[in-house]
Amino acid sequence: MYRTHNCGELRISNIDNEVTLSGWVQRVRKLGGMTFVDLRDRYGISQLVFDENSSEELKNKVDELGREYVIKVSGKVIERASKNKKIPTGEVEIVVDTLDILSKSDTPPFTIEDNTDGGDEIRMKYRYLDIRRNPVRSGLELRHRVAQEVRRYLDSQNFLEIETPYLIKSTPEGARDFIVPSRMNPNQFYALPQSPQTFKQLLMIAGCDRYFQIVKCFRDEDLRADRQPEFTQIDCEMSFVEQDDVLNTFEGMTRHLFKTVKDVELADFPKMTYADAMKYYGSDKPDIRFGMRFVELKEIVGGKDFVVFDSAEYVGAICAEGCAEYTRKKLDALTKFVQKPQIGAKGLVYVKYNADGTFKSSVDKFYAQEDLAKWAEATNAKPGDLILVLAGDKAKTQSALCELRLHMGNELGLRDPEVFAPMWVVDFPLLEWDEDSNRYHAMHHPFTSPREEDIELFNTNPGEIRAKAYDLVINGVEIGGGSIRIHNTELQKQMFKHLGFSDEEAEEQFGFLMDAFKYGAPPHGGVAFGFDRLVSMFGGSESIRDFIAFPKNNSGRDVMIEAPSMVADDQLKELNLNIIKVEQED
Ligand code: AMO
Repeated sequence: MYRTHNCGELRISNIDNEVTLSGWVQRVRKLGGMTFVDLRDRYGISQLVFDENSSEELKNKVDELGREYVIKVSGKVIERASKNKKIPTGEVEIVVDTLDILSKSDTPPFTIEDNTDGGDEIRMKYRYLDIRRNPVRSGLELRHRVAQEVRRYLDSQNFLEIETPYLIKSTPEGARDFIVPSRMNPNQFYALPQSPQTFKQLLMIAGCDRYFQIVKCFRDEDLRADRQPEFTQIDCEMSFVEQDDVLNTFEGMTRHLFKTVKDVELADFPKMTYADAMKYYGSDKPDIRFGMRFVELKEIVGGKDFVVFDSAEYVGAICAEGCAEYTRKKLDALTKFVQKPQIGAKGLVYVKYNADGTFKSSVDKFYAQEDLAKWAEATNAKPGDLILVLAGDKAKTQSALCELRLHMGNELGLRDPEVFAPMWVVDFPLLEWDEDSNRYHAMHHPFTSPREEDIELFNTNPGEIRAKAYDLVINGVEIGGGSIRIHNTELQKQMFKHLGFSDEEAEEQFGFLMDAFKYGAPPHGGVAFGFDRLVSMFGGSESIRDFIAFPKNNSGRDVMIEAPSMVADDQLKELNLNIIKVEQED
């Protein structure tokens, strides 16, 4: 028998028990004739004691022990003389009488402690050692807990968990596909799914009514902290529903998860249209933990010979409460911040609303005190506040102002990771114009239904059509997105036409789905949550990698198994692939 207890289990009530434990050696300390060993497993750490009276054989074995050796020990639980209040087993220790070394270990390349000396790359290369550390392991435990609660909730709501294939034909979610050559079908390729979108719709036509799956999705796109080339979705679809039915169901699931996993009660989720989100926050994923909404000033700042504002398409302001005291240095830093290339504003205009009721601005040359008083009124500024203004092209300026707002939110401590502000963004545009290909693209995907009252705009102003599409946003992160689908073949054809598909192309790519629609498609809709993002939000981190057992690095590589890698010429031949090898640049 390897163990009677795990390493996190023993307490005062176990005193005098004869126990057997197995685990990894965390640390060995010698104190006079005594040796103390911290023994670790997934559940915790127990202190072992080898005293002076141990046999020679036992002493020799103890001398051999090094970090990360795997051992089995038996002995008696006693009360510790000096207790360690920091760990649950800290009141007891085990006086060992037998020790077996089950497995030796080389010195690990970094310390297996909460705060390790290992850099990112080395920890990824030895990810199995990294996972032995508490913060990483507890991230995976959290992920497990969330997955269990998702299943529990959706099962209670009659959802069926159904698997869909990974070797499929390309799904149009907008990113690039990963493709897989088929040996048995020369010159043909599978694509790995960007999502199970078409399959879940087919399952609705198949009468499954409610489907879900915690499923891997694959997208060959540029990586960021919240994006991995393979990631996991909680993918769901429902029949005979309208938008509010879907929103209510998944608001319910989100609330259940927050309650059971974080013990947080969430209030009702507000809904905001895409148009308002852009207008007031410059983003389709606003962080509404704090206010500081945008105020458009174009109307009241014109005609004072300030060319920057007069020539701008858009002039927008935010009011930072209590910041009128900002020093020159701080204001210069803010200007530098908005001028960073990735933010791209040309400059920053500020107005200090001094405590004595006067104004001091960076554009005093053009604007008198009464003018600035109007800005203050528009932005609802009070004495002591600071008004920050950006101007220029509308889309770019709104996006820069959004970054500035988030930056001020951070500076003022308004973005507490333990406060959660979920919301639905609704009424996304159905189509977006793509300059490169000179045509419209589906903003969500081509199966998303337009709002009935907007359908007539197909012939006049397609860019204005609103979709029955929605995103779940929490604290400025897009956690999930979905839509009500088109279930009418004619409308679907019209959609493909506006997306620039010829009848043949539509048939070639989606013939199977269009065919299925001919056999009685129920009205349906659904949503997919980014599971990694949801878990990392629970874990209070912006990086989803911390919650994925074996993630890829920013170049899409798994540095542990060295993937991707070359394959043998024979293997390529068998796949009928004739690859021209490209010299790798360093
Ligand atoms: P969408 O493309 O919006 O919708 O994806 C749903 C959610 O998946 C997460 N996500 C990602 N997470 C990590 N890495 C990535 N590369 C990545 N890409 C997306 C986001 C996003 O909100 N089939 C539709 C859903 C539907 O209409 O039902 C879909 O996939 O959190």
